Amino acid sequence: MGKVTIGIDIGTANISIYSDMEKMIFHEPTVLAYDTKKDKVLEIGHEAKELAEKTPGSIVVLSPLQGGIIADFDMTLRLMKKVEGRVSAVTGKRFKQMDLIVALLPGATNIERQAIGDILFSLGVKSLYFIEGSLAATMGAGLPFEKPIANVIVDIGAGKISTSLVSYGGIVTSATLRKSGDELDRDIAQLVRNKYNVLIGLETAEQVKWQLHCDTSLVAEKSIEIEGRDLVTGFPITIEVPATEFQEEIDEFLKRILSVVQSTLETSPPELSGNIRASGVTLTGGGSLLEGLSDWLHSQIMVPVHMAPAPFESVALGTSMAGEHLDRLINIEKVTAR
Ligand SMILES: Nc1ncnc2c1ncn2[C@@H]1O[C@H](COP(=O)(O)OP(=O)(O)OP(=O)(O)O)[C@@H](O)[C@H]1O
Ligand SMILES: [Mg+2]
Repeated sequence: MGKVTIGIDIGTANISIYSDMEKMIFHEPTVLAYDTKKDKVLEIGHEAKELAEKTPGSIVVLSPLQGGIIADFDMTLRLMKKVEGRVSAVTGKRFKQMDLIVALLPGATNIERQAIGDILFSLGVKSLYFIEGSLAATMGAGLPFEKPIANVIVDIGAGKISTSLVSYGGIVTSATLRKSGDELDRDIAQLVRNKYNVLIGLETAEQVKWQLHCDTSLVAEKSIEIEGRDLVTGFPITIEVPATEFQEEIDEFLKRILSVVQSTLETSPPELSGNIRASGVTLTGGGSLLEGLSDWLHSQIMVPVHMAPAPFESVALGTSMAGEHLDRLINIEKVTAR
C-alpha cells in the first residue's frame, strides 16, 4: 500500500472514517433526508438527523442500514456518494485514488459483502479490502491483537452486538446478534405508548435511553421528562416517567448482550480461558455507554471488564491501522470487482 489509506466503518447509526495518519476525517449519523417527489437527497449525516420527524410528507429521513447490514441498497449508495464528496473535500483525493479498508460484521454473508463491494466499486474505488470489524475494534481499542493471547472485544452498536476472541492477529471465535441499541429504543417507545398512551418518536426514545442506568433501582428517584403526543386527545403532552419503569426493557437489552458474550466465552479454547480470566473483556460501541454496563457485566461473567478509550471510533481507527499490519492479520482480504 503506497497511496493514502482510509479505514471505513459503515455502522447502523454512524459512519466513521479514519485516515492512515490515525486522524478522524468523517463521523456522522448513517442518515439521509430524501425528497421523494424530486427524487433527490437533500442532506446527510447530522443535518439529516436533525430533520427526523420534522419534515413535510414528501421528505423522508432514512436510515438505510438496519441490524448492522444494508437494508436499502440504493439509499446506501447515494449516502456513500455524498460521503465520498465530504471525504475528498478534506483529503483532496477521490476514493479511486485511495486504498480503502472497510469493516464488516463477523459472519457477514456473501450477499452482504457483495452489496458493500458493489457500492464502493460503483463509486470508482480501485483498491478495496474487507476486514472483520471486531478484529479492527481490538486494534482500535489498543489491545495486543498480534500476540497469541486472548483479546475479547464486545461491540455494542445500534444494530448489532458482536463479541470476538482475537488472538495472534485473527478471530478465534465470535458471535453476533442483529438486535441492539435501536431495539431498546423501540422497546422504550412501545412502553410509553402502551402504558402512558403517549406516542413518541425513536429519537425521543433514544434520548430517554441515554438517561437510564442498567440498574434503575440505583437511580430510583430519577424521573425522565418525555415529550410526545397524547393518543387520547391528540395534543402534544409532556409526561414525567420514573426511570424504574424501563427496567424490563433494559433487562432485555442486557440479556442479549450476555447471551452473545457467553456464546463467545463458551466456545473459546481452554488454553485461552485462564488468559481471559486475567485480561478480561473490553467494551466498545456506543451502546456500551449505558450507565453501569461494565459493572453489571462484571457481576455476570466474573472477569475484568474494561472500556475502550473511544467507543464510537474503535472500529474505524483499527480499520485504518490495518494497512500497516497486512502481513500480521488473518481476517482481512483484498476484494475485486465482480
Ligand atoms: N450514553 C448512552 N447510553 C446508551 N446508549 C448510547 C449512549 N450513547 C450512544 N448510545 C447508543 O449507541 C448506539 C450507536 O453506537 P455506534 O455508533 O457504535 O453504533 P454503530 O456502529 O453505528 O452500529 P452497529 O455497529 O450496530 O452497526 C446507538 O444505539 C446510541 O443510542
Ligand atoms: Mg458499529
